Amino acid sequence: MTNWKKRLFYSPADDRSRMRAVANNLILHLHPTKVPAPALKWTYTWGLGGISALLALLQILTGVLLMFRYDASVERAYTSIQTIETQVLFGSLVRGLHHWSANLLIVTAFLHLIRVFLTGGFKKGRATNWLIGIGLLLLVMTFNFTGYLLPWDQLAFWAITVGTSLLSYLPAAGTAVANFLLAGPEVGQGALRNFYAIHVAVLPALLIIMMSYHFWKVRKDGGISQPNPPARSRVTRLTTIPHLVQIEFTAAVVLLTSLVVWAMLVPAPLEALANPNHPPNPAKAAWYFMGLQELLLHMHPLAAMMLPGAALTAIAAIPLWDKREEDIGVYFRSQKGGITAVTAAILAIALIPILVIVDELWLDLPALMPALPILIANGLIPLLLSLGGLAAIYFLFRVIGRANRGEATVGLFTFLIVSLIMLTNVGVFFRGANMALVMPF
Ligand code: HEM
Repeated sequence: MTNWKKRLFYSPADDRSRMRAVANNLILHLHPTKVPAPALKWTYTWGLGGISALLALLQILTGVLLMFRYDASVERAYTSIQTIETQVLFGSLVRGLHHWSANLLIVTAFLHLIRVFLTGGFKKGRATNWLIGIGLLLLVMTFNFTGYLLPWDQLAFWAITVGTSLLSYLPAAGTAVANFLLAGPEVGQGALRNFYAIHVAVLPALLIIMMSYHFWKVRKDGGISQPNPPARSRVTRLTTIPHLVQIEFTAAVVLLTSLVVWAMLVPAPLEALANPNHPPNPAKAAWYFMGLQELLLHMHPLAAMMLPGAALTAIAAIPLWDKREEDIGVYFRSQKGGITAVTAAILAIALIPILVIVDELWLDLPALMPALPILIANGLIPLLLSLGGLAAIYFLFRVIGRANRGEATVGLFTFLIVSLIMLTNVGVFFRGANMALVMPF
């Protein structure tokens, strides 16, 4: 059709089809045109990567809206949050959405990591994306940590004071990093300004870059991991539009609706104005750092940071260790891997509370070894005992359980994850005044 004819026979339907073409184009930039049918199975990925992506976008959107009214000064930060809550149209809803989706994002990114690990999604050339993913999880936690200070209430002030005081235990650069972050030795105006700049400029830029790379890499790696098809059989491939898009759209609508309802029913917390002279008792870190804070009650801070550091390094190095490609896409690697995981979970659920109680009530390593410096008695020794215990669990699976390397790694990974969850629960629910063990009811 020539141009003048096009203009003469213009109809709104043209606009619609053009919009559809643009939308389709966008979708097909993110996804391949066809996806293997098994990849559409909801119970393979649980949609956790997509849900995390949606939550991250919601964070940016609601965060930008909050920036219009938030004031990063110690005199006005708290009142600006009160104004957002009480005087700005939909302010409380926007803040609630920002707060709850931030917390949920930590959970979904963490669950996504677990899913990827359990299905061996880091195999067959996906190691880079595994590392980028770990970076993304740390980034999401840093987002939450820096955002925590901004309301400038008691919760914010003391959680950040506790959190940043840990940094100074890191050898060599610890104190310098803490002073740089806080713009001085303690939490004050400089810290609020720095945290705000990091929260609204540095981290979003990193998030966008890393997420874009993460998505691009999923496509570059040939889509998400899949179980190897049986010999000589071919996997059916379905078109992304409408099959995958329908699923993603439904999940997005359900998630957003639930979040809006939740944010309307449960407002984001805001405690009394920060008072640097009056710490709350107990002064707890944010819930996602409570596992670490719990460790600190049992060992020297340096050891309490080295233990999760070592675990994280080992998790990052898993693609170098567990390379068997035959079991890719199979949850827990095999049935035996499943049994190993359940055994490890039961072990952690039973062992962690026992260790916490024994250490709290009876065991006092520095008193048992008065001749040794505290760093050794309460640092090096518990650290080596913990690492030795983890190694023993791995070898028990290998030798007694006759698990192969991948299955035993599944067991060890499950033990670590369930231990972290147990420690976090002890910290959140079972610690009261002076961080003493209490019953939560
Ligand atoms: C903001 C956080 C994150 C977002 C938005 C995100 C997003 C996604 C999406 C959309 C996918 C496609 C498949 C799926 O939905 O499961 C994916 C795959 C993948 N992600 Fe993430 N991710 C994040 C964090 C992580 C973390 C914490 C890890 C692990 C350390 C990770 C490692 C991977 C890997 C290796 C794949 C390929 C998995 C496979 O092929 O089975 N990601 N991610």
